[in-house]
Amino acid sequence: MKEIPNPQTGFEPISQMIRGYQLTQVLSTAMKYGIFSRLDKPKGASILAEEMSADAVITEKLLEVLVSVDLISKVDGGYVNTDLVRSFFIKDSIFYQGDLIDFMVDSYPLWSKLDQALENGHLDNSGEGKREDTFDKRFILASAEASIRGTLQDTVEVIAGLPEFKDTKLLMDLGGGHGLYSIAFAQRNPSLEVVVFDLPQVVEIGRGVIKDYGMEARVSVLAGDYLKDDLGSGYDLIFISHSLFYQPRETLEGSLNKVYNALKDKGALVINHWIRQKNKNSVVSSLWDLRLTLLGSPHYLYSKEEYLDLLRKCGFVEKDIIHLPTSSNPTVIIVARKDDRRGTFTPS
Ligand SMILES: C[S@@+](CC[C@H](N)C(=O)[O-])C[C@H]1O[C@@H](n2cnc3c(N)ncnc32)[C@H](O)[C@@H]1O
Repeated sequence: MKEIPNPQTGFEPISQMIRGYQLTQVLSTAMKYGIFSRLDKPKGASILAEEMSADAVITEKLLEVLVSVDLISKVDGGYVNTDLVRSFFIKDSIFYQGDLIDFMVDSYPLWSKLDQALENGHLDNSGEGKREDTFDKRFILASAEASIRGTLQDTVEVIAGLPEFKDTKLLMDLGGGHGLYSIAFAQRNPSLEVVVFDLPQVVEIGRGVIKDYGMEARVSVLAGDYLKDDLGSGYDLIFISHSLFYQPRETLEGSLNKVYNALKDKGALVINHWIRQKNKNSVVSSLWDLRLTLLGSPHYLYSKEEYLDLLRKCGFVEKDIIHLPTSSNPTVIIVARKDDRRGTFTPS
């Protein structure tokens, strides 16, 4: 007789992986058909199907899946949104995630060619790898949504507690994109002025976000390319979040030298980035790394040691390293001070 043993580990992590594609399709189809915006009040499946001109049987089955994952609930035979949907999938919610979901789902055709990439190298015919394509409106909205659902609040909380932040009067948010970090910093410190520096097409989006939050008086934008343009001077603190990892080490050094020059004496640099870990990267950063490689889009997952080496070389003294990892944001914050003994950097 051959006995049936118990497996040594549970299969649930793999089951979740397998269900992931199906559930993402259910979620994005529900959003495409405006199901959530129609379920602010309880509604039966057949009425909903009629409103959407959709098949009644499939509508009901799809609603049942949404109930099973707590996106909607059943009340008196009707279906209604849960708080999860009210927070994240209703357009006028401050935490709306619809652009981010669209952005991720749109990359599915790319993932389906992973086997081709294994054979031939990156998919350079995708045409999406160029920088002007990377930092478009869809990307900036998606990155705004990814940060505002908690990551930004956690990061700002840590930075607002730093002595360097408390003394800051003028802050630059370099590669600040949507401007939400700048807005949050200005709201934490009423005497602070913030400048969001980013590419010309991006600062126009940031300008709109700043206006939405009514922060135009203390948060402004400066259009430029930090690989080519001057950053100005007189900043007490320069914050750089998820922007340096698009550059190779050679240009990164030039950018950090510019940052050094733009800071006041003893000014602070705070960088916030995903980093390469020794033994195991997070699923978020390793999928990001693979996706951009498939696209042929330049990016570099630097280790903490590589950032620290580079900062020292550019005349900074490290002050603090703060690990702020969550499953969706495996980030490390490095706080450094300008070392005045180095003098002003003159480009060679
Ligand atoms: C992933 S987004 C990060 C946005 C924001 N800092 C955050 O953490 O959510 C990267 C930002 O860096 C900006 N960026 C990249 N290269 C740049 C350059 N050479 N000059 C100015 N901005 C740049 C992009 O336009 C984009 O807004």
